[in-house]
Amino acid sequence: MANKPSNITAIVGAQWGDEGKGKITDFFAGEADFVVRFHGGNNAGHTVIVDGDIYKLHLIPSGVLYEHPVSVIGNGVVVDPAALIKEINYLRDKGVEPKLKISDRAHVIMPYHIEMDVALTKHQGSLAAGSTKRGIAPVYADKMYRHGIRIIDITESDIFREKLDKAFSFNQTLIKAFGHSSTLNKEEIFDQYIKYGETLKPYISDTSVDLYNAHKKGSAILFEGAQGISLDVDHGVYPHTTSSNTVAGHIASGTGVSFRDISRIIGVAKAYLSRVGQSPLPTELNGQEAETLRDKGSEYGTTTGRPRRVGWLDLVQVRQAVRTNGLTEIALTKLDILSGFSELPICHAYNVGGKQITEMPASLSQYRKAKPIYETLPGWGNLTSDMIDKGFKALPNTLQQYVKYIEDQVDCPITIISMGPQRHETIIR
Ligand code: GDP
Ligand code: IMO
Ligand code: MG
Repeated sequence: MANKPSNITAIVGAQWGDEGKGKITDFFAGEADFVVRFHGGNNAGHTVIVDGDIYKLHLIPSGVLYEHPVSVIGNGVVVDPAALIKEINYLRDKGVEPKLKISDRAHVIMPYHIEMDVALTKHQGSLAAGSTKRGIAPVYADKMYRHGIRIIDITESDIFREKLDKAFSFNQTLIKAFGHSSTLNKEEIFDQYIKYGETLKPYISDTSVDLYNAHKKGSAILFEGAQGISLDVDHGVYPHTTSSNTVAGHIASGTGVSFRDISRIIGVAKAYLSRVGQSPLPTELNGQEAETLRDKGSEYGTTTGRPRRVGWLDLVQVRQAVRTNGLTEIALTKLDILSGFSELPICHAYNVGGKQITEMPASLSQYRKAKPIYETLPGWGNLTSDMIDKGFKALPNTLQQYVKYIEDQVDCPITIISMGPQRHETIIR
């Protein structure tokens, strides 16, 4: 069957996040036994539409809408227990009972991380990323400082108290040093998080062992990335990034499943570009052109509701995604949104101070100066559901040309074409 995943498949973002990973994950999840998040937290917002019903997921993998697969939150994910419990209840209200496992080693987002996130963003000013204010940078920082609190800890009151004492005072000191006042009370946090621990206990497991055993038995595992390559803390446009590695190589450390076993790595790229948050954006559109594309593509954040910045497709960015992730293929989404444009510019290189470059620069100063070099391709008219049913060859020639141009530029096959938000609006080549 065309959409049957090989044993272990990964789906990752090839741009700035919001490429449609949720839709593509859902498309493949019906054939998977486990669908697994390996990094990030509820900064992610993945929209899945099934039979006209809209589901907005932040922490629970997009496979949850099928009855069969187990949803796994790996150790590399950072978990806000209040947000997770809210999401479990949200799904229950919609008639979905999540089959969930949470890694005992996943780090916990605490209320002081959210306060710190706000303080940090103000302090960082022009170097901020425009965070989602979900506490992501501070929780990953505490993990690296080695006074972080893991899910297992909120089920063990003695060690939790010992760790909370250290982490609370550390964060309070910093928050106050930034000139912010805090109303947080350590004892209240302790009591609240012990309650969260009791609620989440049935789901907590050593998920690395679970996945290892499942893989040995031949189970199909699907990894769902969050964010995208330009938000990767190492390979992205640092410091305008998130604080985790979004790159597929992080699956191994973020779940305890060896990368040796991953056979298929699908990068999801939107046929144009969107960005929520702060950073230079070489192909950004402004004014009426931007508004038209934003409204047509409904480009408003799933997590924060912020209007997304939009621009033309940037292949310098996608080229980096192909290389660093080792993509075996690309899923190109939202081609339907580009219908009706007479011409479609695609950026294939940057001009930086008179020099042409084809790879993402490490230098923020160069990236700020980068001017897009475009190839302009002809557009196409309206697409019909009949074309989707008949497959790729029935699509307008100019659309096929657009797809082939991308493949040539980034040296990776585009095997999945998404022409609408619903499961069936998908073409496999
Ligand atoms: P994610 O974070 O990568 O999962 O992406 P989001 O869910 O935040 O944003 C993608 C949006 O585009 C969602 O509202 C999807 O329902 C929608 N979407 C995904 N693929 C397509 C497509 O091919 N066409 C259209 N029109 N919408 C799509
Ligand atoms: P999904 O999984 C788009 C952006 C924020 C900000 C930067 C850092 O839906 O694709 P953070 O809160 O992580 O410290 O914010 O990263 N960002 C995203 N942008 N989609 C996401 O997730 C994002 N998660 C974080 O806007 O610029
Ligand atoms: Mg999103």
